[in-house]
Amino acid sequence: MEIYKSKVMGFCYGVRRALKIAEKAADSGIKAVTFGPIIHNPQVVEKLAQRGIPAVDNFDGLTDETVIIRSHGVGPSCYNMLKCKNLALMDATCPFVRRNQEMAHRLVEDGKQVILIGEKRHPEMKSVAEWAVGHSYQVETMEDVDALPPLDEAYIVTQTTFSAVLADRLVEALGKKVKNLHVNKSICDATMQRQQAARELADRVDVMIVIGGRNSANTSRLAEICGEEGARTYHIETAGELKPSWFHSRDKIGITAGASTPDWIIEEVVCIMENMKEMLDQEEMNLDVHKG
Ligand code: F3S
Repeated sequence: MEIYKSKVMGFCYGVRRALKIAEKAADSGIKAVTFGPIIHNPQVVEKLAQRGIPAVDNFDGLTDETVIIRSHGVGPSCYNMLKCKNLALMDATCPFVRRNQEMAHRLVEDGKQVILIGEKRHPEMKSVAEWAVGHSYQVETMEDVDALPPLDEAYIVTQTTFSAVLADRLVEALGKKVKNLHVNKSICDATMQRQQAARELADRVDVMIVIGGRNSANTSRLAEICGEEGARTYHIETAGELKPSWFHSRDKIGITAGASTPDWIIEEVVCIMENMKEMLDQEEMNLDVHKG
């Protein structure tokens, strides 16, 4: 058994930055909450809650807490609500998400028609859609493209963590439907690099272990990509989920992790995998001795 780690995996710039902001709040001892999970990783969210910074999904009952906005960002209604409730704010919106929000908002203010490509239920998409309210369509699938009305002109803004391959397919289909289509390739570099590295690795191994929250869109995307490349793919959140029965002694195993997966979880998985390798290699040697 051989183990290979993806060239690029784990925390991205935006996630590191968001966690730093939340940890700074925890260190300073201020009363704070995050609006929604700070990142899509239950283990990190739990650790933060233990440090006194829980996640909330609404502002009811908050009086003097500081509200930390997570990396996926929020729409204008959330900022207004915080103002009305006189609650302090720490904004951990990833700058690349902010760029999408501002771009969508500016286009709508200029009277342009916006098409948002991404997962409709993802918090980033919801936030960007709110900045472009009234002048945007959301497209996630080919069926969404078919359902669009005829348009003379439209501007595309893409979810930062969307699949690059699917985005290209949707843009191609939209190009046939919209006479004058302006494309902003706003998938972030961190997403592109992780997807590309996972694809390359999955192509040359038998099994891929993809580590990250089950609620993490970018991690699920990596698992999809690895599956597309033909690797037997297992999406796990923690090392405790690994099963020896998934591996054969001659397997080549690849490991990757989503942009919201912390190093300590990746290291645990690598450590357990190395122990399994030793075990399987030993079993193989014993078998060879018996055969001999
Ligand atoms: Fe930001 Fe890209 Fe990470 S948008 S949160 S750097 S995946």
